[in-house]
Amino acid sequence: MKIAVLPGDGIGPEIIAQGVRVLKALEKDGLKFELEYAPVGGAGYEAAGDPLPDATLKLAKAADAILFGSVGDWKYDTLPRAKRPEQAILRLRKELALFANLRPAMVFPELAGASSLRAEFVAGLDVMILRELTGDIYFGEPRGIRILPNGEREGFNTMRYSESEVRRIVRAGFVIAMKRVKRLCSVDKMNVLETSELWREVAIEVAKEFPAVTLTHMYIDNAAMQLLRNPKQFDVIVTGNMFGDILSDEASMLTGSIGMLPSASLDANNKGLFEPIHGSAPDIAGKGVANPLATIMSVSMMLRYTFNLDAAADRIDNAVKKVLAQGYRTADIFESGMQRVGTTGMGDAVIAAL
Ligand code: IPM
Ligand code: MG
Repeated sequence: MKIAVLPGDGIGPEIIAQGVRVLKALEKDGLKFELEYAPVGGAGYEAAGDPLPDATLKLAKAADAILFGSVGDWKYDTLPRAKRPEQAILRLRKELALFANLRPAMVFPELAGASSLRAEFVAGLDVMILRELTGDIYFGEPRGIRILPNGEREGFNTMRYSESEVRRIVRAGFVIAMKRVKRLCSVDKMNVLETSELWREVAIEVAKEFPAVTLTHMYIDNAAMQLLRNPKQFDVIVTGNMFGDILSDEASMLTGSIGMLPSASLDANNKGLFEPIHGSAPDIAGKGVANPLATIMSVSMMLRYTFNLDAAADRIDNAVKKVLAQGYRTADIFESGMQRVGTTGMGDAVIAAL
């Protein structure tokens, strides 16, 4: 199993180190991982003048899976857009056709008290957000900043979705829903946007292939509100790139910390890029306090979705549950009476639990 490891910027290298330790620990059971590292994001810019150096892209293409840390630092905010760290992850998603982004938001019973909502609203929450990742206003052309005839500047972007793009992501949503409780909520803005009008029409067409699944529709503004009002009404949510970006950050807070959310970005053959959804957190980089659990659970998603190693993935997930039950907490999920640990300490605990 060939894995491209792209630690990136900020806390990326620290959390990735813990994810890699977990992989190595599994090698004792006869699994064999071939890891190759490459710079990406700000680190790519420093190394090769490009957030996604050619060699990094080549490595990512050749690998079976990619373990990705995070990219971004304020110090790059003044670079031209094409050189900014975020371009690396956007290009990787596009170049590798990673259109299906799975962002599960699960509330561990031990962390229900760490949520920004009262525990009874979130205890037992288990939502899967499926975000389309290679289309929408993120990639639509034309885009730019231009000068209008009256001399003022105008910024513009284009929201687009083709029928086939909608069909494949909605179908992926139904396939996931079939393995769960067979409820799928498609989130759009059909009352205002033509892209959403098409999205909803296609979703209704695809639903005919999956009569066992109950499909509902919700406007994005209402969905954002319902996630706070009654999050447990949701099981699988399928939505476009930008709405999914926003909803998944919102959902992360229900779980107690954005430091707890893993993700998988898959192509049509389940090759994937696996990354925590939190960013590079430059404010805490290098301090050894970042929560590595989102990365460790991203490793679990890699084993499950790309390598079909469900048993190994279950072991990691169970180890994470165990360390939380044992009371180990990084700063972001700390509550009094618990055992405070840093990034490496949390890695140690997970490996011991494995
Ligand atoms: C995410 C991030 C990215 C996105 C950024 C870093 C480009 O917010 O993965 O959710 O907007 O997709
Ligand atoms: Mg985001």
